Amino acid sequence: MKHVLSSGQYTRESLEELFDLTDKIRNDTKAYAHKLDDKIIAIMFYEPSTRTRLSFETAALKLGAKIITTENAAEFSSAAKGETIQDTVKVIAGYADAMVIRHRSDTSAVEAASVEKIPIINAGAGKGEHPTQALLDLYTIREKKGKIDGMKVAILGDLKYGRTIHSLIKLLSLYDNIEIYGLSKDAFMLPEEYIEMLKEKNIDYKICYSFDELPKDLDIIYHTRIQAERFEGDFGKEEFIINKEVLDKFSKDTILLHPLPRVIEIATDVDDDPRACYFEQAHNGLYVRMALLLQVLNKDK
Ligand code: CP
Repeated sequence: MKHVLSSGQYTRESLEELFDLTDKIRNDTKAYAHKLDDKIIAIMFYEPSTRTRLSFETAALKLGAKIITTENAAEFSSAAKGETIQDTVKVIAGYADAMVIRHRSDTSAVEAASVEKIPIINAGAGKGEHPTQALLDLYTIREKKGKIDGMKVAILGDLKYGRTIHSLIKLLSLYDNIEIYGLSKDAFMLPEEYIEMLKEKNIDYKICYSFDELPKDLDIIYHTRIQAERFEGDFGKEEFIINKEVLDKFSKDTILLHPLPRVIEIATDVDDDPRACYFEQAHNGLYVRMALLLQVLNKDK
């Protein structure tokens, strides 16, 4: 059974397959309008979302599928009465053909997939991974830069709890001559396990404490918000705000990405800069998620 659980399950070849399919869907979306006519997709979100939930719902609808959905499963599903993820999946498998799940637990998607009744797509698991976000991030990099090998990438913000960061660096580590610069406060630095993973893949990773330590010719700046919902207490002042003045320190070819939502880490004065690609990035998610739904339901050929 095909699931999307972790970025770690992808190879360069499987990514090219996914991105080629995404390109085809994007170029002729109407041609795919009836591919999932007989399918029902369950969308179970136990945590808040705008982009991931609504883009998956839109993706399913554009493919002709029907959806059953709950936007606040933590409160309105029987999880509130103590039902396990596995029991929930066993029941939903009797109604739907695939399930998209976002949950506060790092192991939620793996637990759901262990039932092996329907394909499971991880739409964000705690502080662990958010593979479909990373897939659309990489698709956007490929589109904007024309390649992925050789990219110089700065990752900023919450490298500790930021699941999009964890999934993205796993995908980047598949490519050649990648350099990654991690800029954050001490409290939000990349966990050791990910630094070890990069080392094993011979990816250069440099810890940075200020914008001045980042190379001016970066290809990508990938910023993230502090995941305040994942820890107790105050995280203090945001020190790494990108505004027009900061962005202008970098090359005219440095693109600025963010999984969104942003809080204050990217000032709105850069929104109209051609290097600011985060809204396009979010839009790409629709097509990548259409391709993923087709793949897990074996309707991609
Ligand atoms: N990027 C992302 O996961 O956004 P949402 O939380 O709005 O789904």
